[in-house]
Amino acid sequence: MGCPPVRPAAHHTEGVGAASDDSHTETSGRSVIRVRRSGPLSGSVRISGAKNSVLKLMAASVLAPGRFTLHNVPRIADVALMSELLEGMGATVAHGAAGSAPDVMTIDVPEVMVPEAPYDQVERMRASIVVLGPLLARFGEARVSVPGGDDFGHRPIDMHLRALEQLGATFTTSHGYIQGRAERLTGAQVLLEYPSVGATENLLMAAVRARGTTVIDNAAREPEIADLAAFLNAMGAEVDGAGSSTITVEGVESLHPVTHTVVPDRIEAATYLAAVGMAGGSIRLLGARADHMVMLLEKLGDMGLRVDDGGDVLVATASDRLRSVDVSTLPYPGVATDYKPLLVALLSVADGVGILTENVFAGRFRYIPELVRMGADIRVEGHHAVVRGVDALSGAPVRAPDIRAGAALVVAGLAAEGETVVADAEHVERGYQDLVGNLARLGADIS
Ligand code: UD1
Repeated sequence: MGCPPVRPAAHHTEGVGAASDDSHTETSGRSVIRVRRSGPLSGSVRISGAKNSVLKLMAASVLAPGRFTLHNVPRIADVALMSELLEGMGATVAHGAAGSAPDVMTIDVPEVMVPEAPYDQVERMRASIVVLGPLLARFGEARVSVPGGDDFGHRPIDMHLRALEQLGATFTTSHGYIQGRAERLTGAQVLLEYPSVGATENLLMAAVRARGTTVIDNAAREPEIADLAAFLNAMGAEVDGAGSSTITVEGVESLHPVTHTVVPDRIEAATYLAAVGMAGGSIRLLGARADHMVMLLEKLGDMGLRVDDGGDVLVATASDRLRSVDVSTLPYPGVATDYKPLLVALLSVADGVGILTENVFAGRFRYIPELVRMGADIRVEGHHAVVRGVDALSGAPVRAPDIRAGAALVVAGLAAEGETVVADAEHVERGYQDLVGNLARLGADIS
């Protein structure tokens, strides 16, 4: 196992705990997914636009007044929450309006807005904090509720604030709100302590309107950051190097609205890869990008899952029992932390012993007791999960603790004898457009 990267301070103080995906606490507890042992799977799934990109593009729209049009926007709960947040600020958002395709969103951004992300919104979706940078850039002020602890522990935003301060913003905190001000942001050399996705995005969206040049060092390199930069450049920004560790931004005086197509969701694609790995068969992922999942595909290849890149389609085939491997999650281009529950599910029925090491978020592995209830043999030691593959899982009632863990439990149910009932499935709906329908169309026994 290689050396883990330098981790944010919070990582060390947190002990166990923390999400592998953006999370919030509200659950209605009503939604349930039932799945029975299935396979082999066959057929095609169209991969939606990436949740973790579209939320940031929507936030970036506040940088310029006028009408934005986004294509490939998934119909998921988090997108609806971000729409609500923008509407609360004064924008008008239409997703799949009459006369347009269901994946098309228009955002009408007014001249005057209320630059605020209220408590209610931030509590329900932590990603709301990415409005901080663009609001400061356009209006010179922003008021954002301090993200609280959630189901998964504390997830700080110290790096976001420190980075924006280096561009000249000042922050005060009172009554649970961060109040940010900036007469005029000024470009600066900013070295991030850790390649935080959210901090890179907030900084990028602020820097595009700052006076002069900003250089972001140790920037996050995720494909969603490159997508945000492409969006900003189309708006008239001058961003260079996004997707690498050093991003250079020349501030510009004004930006304009654009039409943009959201990058495909690599985590959604990984979910269907895990499904076919679990249930066997051969499936086609339409619109998925192999070049955004290189490390994952290598690992899955080592496990015996064959993935052929046909340009605009990935063909995934699992004909035999998968083999165990060791995996470490890392910032991109490493194996994403969001894939982790899916990988643990795959390892739980693979041949041999696999060790999964979590390096991005302190690893609470909250879904692991649920997998153990399904007969998996998993031991957690600190931020390592030691997974001994069993011949078969056994269906059981389980609870989805968050989006990806919920999806992983559903996928695990494909290889479990009898029925698995995943409660709190509304978590899954936050990140997946029709996971159940898509799996059913691939031949899974699911409702
Ligand atoms: C985003 C993704 C999430 C993914 C994560 C890592 C969205 C909506 N969410 O989350 O699905 O799992 O990237 O790929 O895009 N940290 C600090 N201080 C900060 C900021 C972060 O200590 O100011 C720490 C976090 O606690 C964590 C690590 O840095 O340990 C990585 O977090 P970050 O990359 O910022 O993740 P998010 O942007 O929150």
